Amino acid sequence: MKKFLLDYGLKVRLPILLFVVIITFAVTYYVSYAERNNIGYQPEQPIKFSHKVHAGDMKIDCKYCHISADKTRNASIPTVSVCMGCHTLARKDMPEIQKLTEYYDQNKPLLWNRIHRVPDFVYFNHSVHVNKGIDCANCHGDVQNMEVIGQVKNLNMGACLDCHRNAHAKLPNLPNINNGPDYCSTCHR
Ligand code: HEC
Ligand code: HEC
Ligand code: HEC
Ligand code: HEC
Ligand code: HEC
Repeated sequence: MKKFLLDYGLKVRLPILLFVVIITFAVTYYVSYAERNNIGYQPEQPIKFSHKVHAGDMKIDCKYCHISADKTRNASIPTVSVCMGCHTLARKDMPEIQKLTEYYDQNKPLLWNRIHRVPDFVYFNHSVHVNKGIDCANCHGDVQNMEVIGQVKNLNMGACLDCHRNAHAKLPNLPNINNGPDYCSTCHR
């Protein structure tokens, strides 16, 4: 009797249990894939700033606001005074601009929610990419058409290496591009 129960457990229950565990894992893995990679993360911001209006319709250069993208590791987020260069005049009647002006008058920093981020143990540098002619869109998507900016591209290790190893195929508009390095200490220093 005991042996029968043991056999039943091994032959029937165990495979069923394993099957359920594997399916659950596979489904969870698949369903949470985008979320784990931060894709679709589009937080609400303290001011309703629109890239579509500024970088799209008005065609303001990305580097007018993200001034260090071709100089340092970080692209940087503009200070309120950059906005006020235009908004002391432009659209003063709009509530969002009045809110912006309050930050400026009170000398309060605007705490924008950060969207794209690599973990602390990863070294990334904007200028090495931007100065080789790699367009922002390769890593950030079609920002000119984003009313609210969010992450649309994968920026995990697989994505970094995929481009580093296949730079020609990934960047057809840059025929003279070299592959990026793929030894570990490039990005883990
Ligand atoms: C008028 C100024 C301005 C211009 C022009 C501009 N941006 Fe921005 N950008 C901002 C501000 C302010 C934020 C932070 C608020 C937000 O996330 O909407 C931001 C956020 C971003 C972020 C997200 C940062 C994060 O936290 O991950 C990316 C990526 C970005 N911009 C790319 C671009 C690109 C690419 C262009 C050109 C096509 C561009 N921006 C043009 C002002 C600007
Ligand atoms: C080069 C000039 C310029 C700069 C710099 C600039 N803006 Fe603007 N912004 C404008 C103009 C012009 C409009 C009106 C566009 C329209 O109505 O078509 C506008 C519109 C807006 C609006 C209203 C958008 C809408 O229609 O809903 C907000 C909010 C705004 N800007 C925030 C900002 C913030 C925040 C910054 C700084 C990160 C900034 N702007 C930098 C010129 C500028
Ligand atoms: C090769 C891919 C790549 C390219 C090209 C690229 N970015 Fe980024 N960007 C990233 C990654 C990865 C992060 C997160 C970096 C981190 O956490 O340190 C990021 C973060 C940002 C941020 C927020 C943090 C910061 O650095 O200030 C802004 C703003 C930004 N990028 C704007 C731009 C603009 C504007 C361009 C084009 C001039 C551009 N990026 C080109 C990959 C890229
Ligand atoms: C769209 C293609 C592309 C993507 C995506 C990309 N890279 Fe690169 N990266 C390059 C190329 C091409 C080079 C080599 C540039 C050169 O020196 O000619 C490079 C160079 C680098 C370097 C400089 C190595 C040195 O010379 O010191 C670092 C660091 C780096 N990448 C990190 C990253 C990280 C981290 C990511 C992912 C978050 C990433 N890259 C994503 C194309 C890319
Ligand atoms: C081009 C840049 C780049 C190179 C080269 C690179 N990595 Fe990474 N690595 C990343 C990024 C970005 C992350 C963080 C995102 C992620 O977890 O995928 C990461 C994460 C990791 C993690 C943590 C994984 C986790 O799940 O938390 C390990 C371990 C790692 N890398 C090991 C390596 C080893 C070993 C090598 C050399 C064979 C290497 N990496 C080469 C960019 C790189």
